[in-house]
Amino acid sequence: MAHIIVVGNEKGGAGKSTVSMHVATALVRMGHKVGVLDLDLRQKTFGRYVANRRSFLSDQGIDLPSPDYRELPEIDQNNLREGENVYDHRLSAAVATLEPDSDFIVIDCPGSHTRLSQVAHSLADTLVTPLNDSFVDFDLLAHTDTDGVKIKGPSVYSEMVWNARQLRSQAKLRPIDWIVLRNRMGAQNMVNKQKMEAAIGQLAKRIGFRVAPGFNERVIFRELFPRGLTLLDLKDVGVKQMNISNVAARQELRDLMKSLNLPDVTIDF
Ligand SMILES: Nc1ncnc2c1ncn2[C@@H]1O[C@H](COP(=O)(O)OP(=O)(O)OP(=O)(O)O)[C@@H](O)[C@H]1O
Ligand SMILES: [Mg+2]
Repeated sequence: MAHIIVVGNEKGGAGKSTVSMHVATALVRMGHKVGVLDLDLRQKTFGRYVANRRSFLSDQGIDLPSPDYRELPEIDQNNLREGENVYDHRLSAAVATLEPDSDFIVIDCPGSHTRLSQVAHSLADTLVTPLNDSFVDFDLLAHTDTDGVKIKGPSVYSEMVWNARQLRSQAKLRPIDWIVLRNRMGAQNMVNKQKMEAAIGQLAKRIGFRVAPGFNERVIFRELFPRGLTLLDLKDVGVKQMNISNVAARQELRDLMKSLNLPDVTIDF
């Protein structure tokens, strides 16, 4: 059975697609077979990222390990069982296609609440939630008092994950290992950072997730997309000297991969 990694957060722009591409590519580069799906059927950022990689590599005449991206198959309505949701069918068909040839399946979710995203969460062995360092984004995980200090109760996204956990437990599947990544961290605003750290730590214990460091806010992450590259590919495409920021970003990716604690993965980059 492939190990399913779902990258989700209903808040837009937290860095889900960027994290998905880096995690998937890091795994392929370490010798694992990785299938990937993009559930943002409109924007398809992750799908576009992988397609850009294919075009760039073919233009340059180089071959680099790449994840196996599949579109969700179109389904003839007549093939649905009575009462079956078309999106559920498309997602399970896509997972079933990838499963035999994958050690890992990485599923990128849209920054909104959709049926597809909801079902994907219940498939997650590992759930990665990149979170911007802002109480606006935190509000989808939990509501706080006006100081941002005391947690009043879980919010929409945590409730959705809770439901997914219930479904898995009823189906006797292993529990979701949920990791919240503090992502796109900037250098400034220490007060907010400390408040967020305290609030996330408190919530982690209360609703059961692990907290891990994600990526800092760095221009390089925006520049890589058109060529479909990740931080791990730069040397192979002729970048001789990595600048300090790129070296630091690579270390962030290494730390992130370690913190995911995936089965049979030894980090060797
Ligand atoms: N660590 C980072 N540093 C700088 N820019 C980043 C970083 N991570 C992501 N970005 C940029 O932020 C924007 C949103 O990133 P991304 O598309 O990965 O987020 P998302 O959570 O998938 O968004 P959506 O919810 O719309 O799917 C993009 O322009 C991306 O290049
Ligand atoms: Mg996205």
